[in-house]
Amino acid sequence: MFETPAFSNAETRPDQSDTPMWLFGYGSLIYKTGFAFKTRRPASIKGWTRRFWQGSHDHRGTLEAPGRVATLVPQKEAVCHGMAYLITPDVLEGLDVREKNGYLRVVTDLYFDDGTCGEALVYMATEGNEAWLGEASVLEIAQQISTAVGPSGPNRDYLLMLADSIREMGHDDTHVEAIEQALLALEAGVDRS
Ligand code: BEZ
Repeated sequence: MFETPAFSNAETRPDQSDTPMWLFGYGSLIYKTGFAFKTRRPASIKGWTRRFWQGSHDHRGTLEAPGRVATLVPQKEAVCHGMAYLITPDVLEGLDVREKNGYLRVVTDLYFDDGTCGEALVYMATEGNEAWLGEASVLEIAQQISTAVGPSGPNRDYLLMLADSIREMGHDDTHVEAIEQALLALEAGVDRS
């Protein structure tokens, strides 16, 4: 079994608080920043795949009706494409609050789309956290996303914006696309059962 090297968020905070560092975004961070960054570059991480297995009761759902948002799960040979931001560590304080619903920071190797490499922090929610929902069928995930709404808006908007931004970067994510197609079919009233 793959061991996730997760730390408490304080443990991955660098000592020199003004040294720029890379933050890898694979979910809402791709299309919604809301924080200061010096530059951003398309990049990927290896050995992780994006999955809508994390519950959201503070952004895209509620405690009574949680939404589903992206996290990363370990998968050999997988490549997860996203966006890397060069930030100063003070930015992390705000993100720790924004992403508090079960996400921890992990340090991982980073591969820029131009062929160069680095190291980045990435937020991930691991199995067993307080908001974890886990695996479900594409249709079940799409059904849940189609009805959930939270303080940050409808869960379906999160899914569609993420799917669009992955495509705009020139990449495919079969998991995200399958859920997007199922959601659009549900909204069009198409019976795919
Ligand atoms: C991201 O977009 O990388 C992200 C996902 C979940 C929590 C924080 C950030």
